Amino acid sequence: MKLFDVYPLNNVAITKAKGSNVWDDKGNQYLDMYGGHAVISIGHTHPHWVEKIESQLRQIAFYSNSVLIPQQQQLADKLGKLSGKNDYQLFLCNSGAEANENALKLASFHTGRKKIVAFRKSFHGRTSLAVAATDNPAIVAPVNQTNNVIFLPFNDTASLQALFNAQGKEIAAVIVEGIQGVGGINVASTEFLQAIRRLCDESGAVFIADAVQCGYGRSGKFYAQDHSGVNADIYSMAKGMGNGFPVAGISIAPHLQPKYGMLGTTFGGNHLACAAALAVLEVMEQENLMENAKQTGDYLMEQLKAMPKIANVRGAGLMIGFDVPETHKDLRKNLLEKHRIFTGEAKPNVIRLLPSLALTKAEADTFLGALREELN
Ligand SMILES: Cc1ncc(COP(=O)(O)O)c(C=O)c1O
Repeated sequence: MKLFDVYPLNNVAITKAKGSNVWDDKGNQYLDMYGGHAVISIGHTHPHWVEKIESQLRQIAFYSNSVLIPQQQQLADKLGKLSGKNDYQLFLCNSGAEANENALKLASFHTGRKKIVAFRKSFHGRTSLAVAATDNPAIVAPVNQTNNVIFLPFNDTASLQALFNAQGKEIAAVIVEGIQGVGGINVASTEFLQAIRRLCDESGAVFIADAVQCGYGRSGKFYAQDHSGVNADIYSMAKGMGNGFPVAGISIAPHLQPKYGMLGTTFGGNHLACAAALAVLEVMEQENLMENAKQTGDYLMEQLKAMPKIANVRGAGLMIGFDVPETHKDLRKNLLEKHRIFTGEAKPNVIRLLPSLALTKAEADTFLGALREELN
């Protein structure tokens, strides 16, 4: 049986990982500035995370959402505390797309409306409504096409205001990434996020903060949207939540009321996933990783901005992007093949840095040294 060939692959088989490093099957060590696509939050194979998953596995791995699962409440308590949203409610699921799908569905149930506002260069996942709200027609199948999603330019408050003036009472939700990831590391402005909050309040629409990539402390705050000083009604999260264990969720404001059967999933919130997610939050707290993301991120940004050959250094914390000049279009490939450093990309010419939130200054310096060598 062949694998369904949908991913362009680097010719590397990773067999071992620790912290911000991974090793291939030939024993070569790599620095992971990509975090397996922003997933590695506390560092690969963190001992507390391994221990917690292992001991949960020996007790019980799974039972369905038809019984009490105390680990879910423990996770909700810790998440409420670290995210500063104690009064929100947690619904657990399995992936970023599923989190957004549920967020959009909940907004529609709550408002009784159908229209969703999304933004140019957004990425919200590959399930039916999440992909319809994603600004990439190439991945939207004919069956997912809908005129219920309205795309507007990102960070353009005037066009958002104009749309709400015209049809505010039809809009169920506005969904926005605090920092667009797949779209190339574009930071939502404070003014724009505050305008979304105000317009949603005025019209009764739901503000959905997609924090799947930019959340979980990566930007130096728990959700990147928090930099704006306003709260969203729903935060979706996944990637960093399990540090590689598949777990996702939505954090839901108190005024959005649940009803039996409204949302559901077989695997979401299982014992093992909760143990992994709880371990992540415990390590984030104990090792002060949000602060590390901010400090190490600030250092990286400052050093990158001083490099004349790269342009538009942007982002927050350890979610950083920069434009690669035409003369160095093999930069990412060279970083991998010559320096054994994984980085991310966004088409056509952006390098994305999404390392573990535990990245050290010494590891940042290793990356910066390799980058300087390539650029000169
Ligand atoms: C902002 C954002 N939302 C949603 C998703 C979808 O997450 P998943 O691949 O876990 O379904 C992604 C994945 O890259 C993402 O970056």
